[in-house]
Amino acid sequence: MLPKFVFGLGAALTGFATLGHAECTREGLLAAAGSYLAAQASGSISGLKLSATNFTYQQNNKKADIKTGVLSQALSINLNRSTADTTACASYTMLISSGGSKPYVISTQIRHADGDADTISAIDSIVATTGDLFFNAAQTLSYIQKENWGSLDESQRANRTELKRVGDAYLDMWTDAKAADSIPWGTDCERVEGSALTKPCGASLPRGGSATNNGNRRYVIDETVGSVEVLCSFDSLGSLPDSHEIRLEGGKVKYVHTVTVMR
Ligand SMILES: *[C@@H]1O[C@H](CO)[C@@H](O)[C@H](O)[C@H]1NC(C)=O
Ligand SMILES: *[C@@H]1O[C@H](CO)[C@@H](O)[C@H](O)[C@H]1NC(C)=O
Ligand SMILES: *[C@@H]1O[C@H](CO)[C@@H](O)[C@H](O)[C@H]1NC(C)=O
Repeated sequence: MLPKFVFGLGAALTGFATLGHAECTREGLLAAAGSYLAAQASGSISGLKLSATNFTYQQNNKKADIKTGVLSQALSINLNRSTADTTACASYTMLISSGGSKPYVISTQIRHADGDADTISAIDSIVATTGDLFFNAAQTLSYIQKENWGSLDESQRANRTELKRVGDAYLDMWTDAKAADSIPWGTDCERVEGSALTKPCGASLPRGGSATNNGNRRYVIDETVGSVEVLCSFDSLGSLPDSHEIRLEGGKVKYVHTVTVMR
């Protein structure tokens, strides 16, 4: 009797494990990011599959109530783009809403626990508007809509370790005098910092000077488009809620986007 019982239990557990752990696919992550965009466009969170037991909402690095945050306002979205991190089971979405009385540029990471892309366990947004660093949503839109964020050929992709290294080196430039020269700048690199365009972006860089490291870094890395996106507290200049997104093409930095909140 005993061997049969053990065998049966093993099969039952295997079945349960398969059901409980949905695969964290790119499609699943992008579908959840799409549900977030639909929520922002409608000002209603009713279509979001939020975890009942483990859900956190953050806005500008502070825990907040999703029901009264920016997601409760319907925004007309001019541009959106999402990346997917199947290793971390997370996604990144940027959106620009330039037309309304209150324009926004929003950088959002969405996280899923237990490899289950269907259920959202965290929405973490940097929400910039008028008054934030170099804020001009229409100008930002005019630059970003010309960019090509298409999927890269395998031969043009940096690996995950390298993408994270470059994201960290970028944020370390304000504290580490050697960081700027460790970054593989592309000759045609473009930086859109708020709405300020710098091209090429490897000229005139910070080389240390602050004693406070940019902290609380949260990463979304998507090797297929060569991107590393980091939400952080820009502590080197004063605890500013911040998003830095970098795309590498063929191992070299091609685009940098920064969204920095001055509140
Ligand atoms: C997001 O952008 C895609 C095109 O890239 C578009 O088809 C979609 O409608 C946009 N979503 C929203 C909510 O604006
Ligand atoms: C809750 O979700 C976060 C991701 O947002 C995850 O890192 C954490 O492990 C989860 N906690 C539990 C108890 O599942
Ligand atoms: C990742 O890429 C870097 C830079 O090209 C390279 O030095 C490193 O060996 C690669 N790591 C792996 C595990 O392939």
